Parts: sequence; structure tokens; C-alpha cells
Amino acid sequence: MRVLITGNMGYVGSVLTRFLKSKDPGIEIMGYDSGFFGHCLTGAESIPEACLTRQYIGDVRELTPAILDEADAVVHLAAVSNDPMGKEFEDVTTSINREASVRIAKIAASHGVGNFVFASSCSVYGAAVGWPRGETDTTNPLTPYARSKIGTEDDLRQIDLSGMVFTSLRFATACGMSDRLRLDLVLNDLVACAVSSGEINVLSDGSPWRPLIDVEDMARAIYWAIRRRAEDGGTWLAVNAGRDESNYKISDLAEAVQRQVSNAKVSINADAPSDKRSYKVDFSLFKSLAPDFIPRVSLDQSIARLLKGLERMKFVDRKFRNSPYLRLNTLRRHIDAGRLNRDLRWLGM
Ligand SMILES: NC(=O)c1ccc[n+]([C@@H]2O[C@H](COP(=O)([O-])OP(=O)(O)OC[C@H]3O[C@@H](n4cnc5c(N)ncnc54)[C@H](O)[C@@H]3O)[C@@H](O)[C@H]2O)c1
Repeated sequence: MRVLITGNMGYVGSVLTRFLKSKDPGIEIMGYDSGFFGHCLTGAESIPEACLTRQYIGDVRELTPAILDEADAVVHLAAVSNDPMGKEFEDVTTSINREASVRIAKIAASHGVGNFVFASSCSVYGAAVGWPRGETDTTNPLTPYARSKIGTEDDLRQIDLSGMVFTSLRFATACGMSDRLRLDLVLNDLVACAVSSGEINVLSDGSPWRPLIDVEDMARAIYWAIRRRAEDGGTWLAVNAGRDESNYKISDLAEAVQRQVSNAKVSINADAPSDKRSYKVDFSLFKSLAPDFIPRVSLDQSIARLLKGLERMKFVDRKFRNSPYLRLNTLRRHIDAGRLNRDLRWLGM
């Protein structure tokens, strides 16, 4: 099987590449990435790209259609991938996350690609109090990032994709260790706080609900989706990817971190303005469609893997919230140094 992964040099792609290769050593993987975070390796002894057949460095807004001739499946991860970046680069988020995604899916369909996997997000549920939201419930995206994800799904639902099996995985919030670790994710942030300062500093009042998924389990779901048959869910499918037991309150996460870093104290910011982004999610459809691929990594295992990874990195930076481990900071550094413009295109290279 030949798979093209866009955004392969990110947090998820770095884990996915090794995961796919370990499951199927014969798989041919091609990567396509602009390389914004290519240099942000975190303790890896070799680059994940070493197991690729080919690495393209390019912008998804300008992807050459012929590249898709070589692929049986496409995993489309490339994106402006969180709310802070989406807020700062709102128009670019629409053009990269929505317009380029729709264009690439259309080209893939016309070039005979069998399966297309789109990395969507449970953040499309936004502020969703009460019952856990399922795929047929109304969405309520609160941010440009979340709107770009649901917008892409909506656009592609209305287009004839010539029988290509399209799967939009609405991922829970990612967590866990990667060769390109990010600390702008809630659990990763709390573990990094505990390790670097001995204080698990919750930025909100701890009350919002958030479903979590370990990055290895994201790779497992993608492995299912690149081989999914139309009989299992239809040619167009949007499915929540995670598990019901992994809907947590942020304060529960802080306590789970404290259980493994027992000398660390939890501090909750009771005066923080309430975070409207709070949602519980129903993952029963995923469980019924992909029973052998549901998440296996427990919250405690994710925390343990993060602790081990941070130790390997000799991580001590108390001011990590100002560091390149937060993706927005890395983009700002590129821009301030004159390497990237505000349209997120490389300059002079
Ligand atoms: N991390 C999460 O919590 C989470 C949750 C749900 C969904 N997702 C989605 O999963 C996908 C991967 O997330 P991630 O955490 O690995 O993000 P990431 O930011 O770590 O990686 C994204 C990659 O896309 C590349 N990229 C960005 N713009 C590009 C462009 N114009 N052309 C080519 N490449 C470009 C970047 O260089 C980067 O390597 C994203 O689509 C994200 O929205 C992530």
C-alpha cells in the first residue's frame, strides 16, 4: 500500500509514520509538509522521516496534483492546528485548513485514490453542556480553527468524490509523547508544569470537560481509516475518534498528573474567566465500526510516557509556555526572523 501523509512532520505525523511502518513493514509512505516544525525534535535519536519512501517539502495550497497519482490512500494532517494559531492567522487558517483540504480531496478523488482520511476535531462541538455529543448532534464551533474543520466536512459532504472512501476522524484532544512533542495541549502542559516547577498550574477554573486521546491511539484510528471499506460506515463518514471513558474535567487531569508526580501541587485559577470550550463526546459509533482499533492507551500510561520522554529530553524549562514547544511561538519566531511571512509562506528559500 502507498500512503501520502500531508503534515507528516508534526506532532501526530511523527508518531503516525513509525506506527504505520511497524504495523505494515511493506507500506510505502510519502510525506508532504512545509516543514514549519521540522527542526523541533524532542529527544528522538533518528528522524521519523527516515522510514519514508519520499519526503516532499511544499505547501498544501500548491500541492502538485501528479503527486497524488502515486497514492492508494491520503492522510491529510497538514493544518494550522490549534485555536491560538487559528486566532492569530484567521484567514490563512481558512485557506490552509478548508480551501486546500477540499481541493486536495477533490484531486485525490479524480486521481483514483481509494481512501482519504481527514484529521478533524471534537472541538467542532464547542460549548456543549449536558449529554455527550454524537455525530448527528448539532455542532457549535467557537473558533476559526473549529469552523475550518466543520466547514471542510460540510463542503466535502456535498461533492461527488467518485466513490473514494472519505473518513473524517473527529479526534478528541491529543495528548502523549511524540518525537515532535507539543506543550500547547492540556495534558502535556500539566505534566510539563509538574516536572519543571513542581506546580500543576491549571490555567482555567478546572471545570471544562474535554475528551482526550493519546497520539498513538490517533495513529491506530488512522490505520483503520486508510483501509476502511465503504460497507463499514459509507463512502462519506464523520466519526468521533476516542473512547467514552476518556471524557475528563481539566481538574481530573491535574489530579491524575499529581498521582504520578507526588511532590507537585495542584493550583487552580478560581478567578479565571470561564472557558466556553467544554464538551463531552459520545464515541459509540467509532467503537461499533472499529472495535479492534479503539484507544488502548490509558490516561496513566500517557502521563507515564510523557514523564519518560521529558526525562529523556532533560526537560527543566519553567518558562516553557514562552518556548517553541508551543506551536504559535515557533511560527512567531520564523516570522520575526524574516523566514516566514504572515501568510505562512517561506521567504527567500
Ligand atoms: N493535536 C490535537 O489535539 C489534534 C486534535 C484533533 C485534530 N488534530 C488535527 O490533526 C492534524 C495534525 O495535528 P498535529 O497536532 O500533528 O499538528 P502540528 O501542527 O504538530 O502538525 C501539522 C503539520 O502540518 C504542516 N503544515 C501546516 N501548514 C501547512 C501547509 N500550508 N502546507 C504543508 N504543510 C503544512 C506543519 O508544518 C506541521 O508539520 C491537524 O490537522 C490537526 O488539526 C489535532
